[in-house]
Amino acid sequence: MSERTLVLVKPDGVARGLVGEVVSRIERKGLRLAALELRVVTRDLAEQHYAEHDGKPFFGSLLDFITSGPVVALVVEGPRAIPAFRQLAGGTDPVEKATPGTLRGDLALETESNLVHGSDSPESAEREIKLWFPNI
Ligand code: PPS
Repeated sequence: MSERTLVLVKPDGVARGLVGEVVSRIERKGLRLAALELRVVTRDLAEQHYAEHDGKPFFGSLLDFITSGPVVALVVEGPRAIPAFRQLAGGTDPVEKATPGTLRGDLALETESNLVHGSDSPESAEREIKLWFPNI
């Protein structure tokens, strides 16, 4: 059974030229790209995307960060695509949680600029894919 997940290469990843690295690891895992687009993120889109974190202490800086430069948004599909991508990404904190071999464990240092986002559940994936790619 195939499922879909929304992946973002965050502004730090785009600025550092790591889009190819992220896409390569997704493809080497055996997942497929169903959509890919370079996007400038408006404040409105950022607020909707991170709505569940509204009210948390880091919400404002998270919005500032995700709107600070272009991101690459992808829809990734394959068997167990949601947990499979989160395994590739590694834990949220690139030093304390992500292990070596993961994208964050190998390529990031800070919890805010942690390179990638991946939907955390089927419900989030459905909501986020509709938000970022309403026409697919
Ligand atoms: S929570 O509170 O457990 O739900 O948060 P978490 O799932 O770990 O993270 C949600 C997203 O917020 C980002 N984040 C932060 N940004 C800035 N500063 C701090 N302290 C911080 N903590 C968490 C984190 O990178 C997650 O972003 P996404 O894009 O969902 O990976």
